[in-house]
Amino acid sequence: MTTLSSKRVAETLDKLHAEADAADHDMMTKLIAQLEASGETLQDAAARFVDEERVNYRTTYRGHADHFLAISPAYGRFLYAIARARRATRIVEFGTSMGVSTIYLAAALRDNGGGKLIGTELEPSKVARARAHLEAAGLADLVDIREGDALDTLKDVGGEVDVLSIDGAFSLYLPVLKLIEPRLTPGAVILGENAFAQDYLDYVRSPANGYFSRSLDIDEGRGNEFTVRVG
Ligand SMILES: C[S@@+](CC[C@H](N)C(=O)[O-])C[C@H]1O[C@@H](n2cnc3c(N)ncnc32)[C@H](O)[C@@H]1O
Repeated sequence: MTTLSSKRVAETLDKLHAEADAADHDMMTKLIAQLEASGETLQDAAARFVDEERVNYRTTYRGHADHFLAISPAYGRFLYAIARARRATRIVEFGTSMGVSTIYLAAALRDNGGGKLIGTELEPSKVARARAHLEAAGLADLVDIREGDALDTLKDVGGEVDVLSIDGAFSLYLPVLKLIEPRLTPGAVILGENAFAQDYLDYVRSPANGYFSRSLDIDEGRGNEFTVRVG
């Protein structure tokens, strides 16, 4: 029995994944229709999106204040497994949204014997909802969700970081990694969901920078990048 499979956590996650599917359904349907009409691949569209978003990511995500944009259950179980395998006690999460991924990671902290997850989210309404969801799951004591821009809120994470989950504005993956880099433990794992920004991929895939990195198809086409701090 793990915290992830406990009744309280499992029921909260089931409810949130269902809410996420409903809240994001129309947006996803529209996106798929646009891709089909243009003939553009998801990867090409994402690369274009990185450039567009770079100049106005605050406005972009204000427009998604009611969307979950959440990870899948499969990716959540992967986050849990990695945090358990790494025996993580300090986790940083860029892009908390409604707290779905946060619950998977905090459940791993609980089963590792405790620790702290520092999350961050631009949208105040999402911060409030994420906190309520962590309460519902019984994991709030392990989580510090900081409201604001990750480039400010993650300047001081209070100690060494075993796992970094990156799932925020696409164009900030590399700046956020560089912010946390001095705090990464040897063997720290960095998990990039929607890691489409070429500057980020070039950086983590270059051995000279002290990482081993490759893409994983946990969710096919969603840009799952698995990176280990080896330097
Ligand atoms: C893809 S969603 C995260 C989903 C979440 N990890 C989950 O699975 O439930 C990305 C989130 O990052 C937030 N975000 C984007 N840029 C940010 C920034 N610079 N600082 C903090 N949060 C940011 C957005 O508001 C959005 O809610």
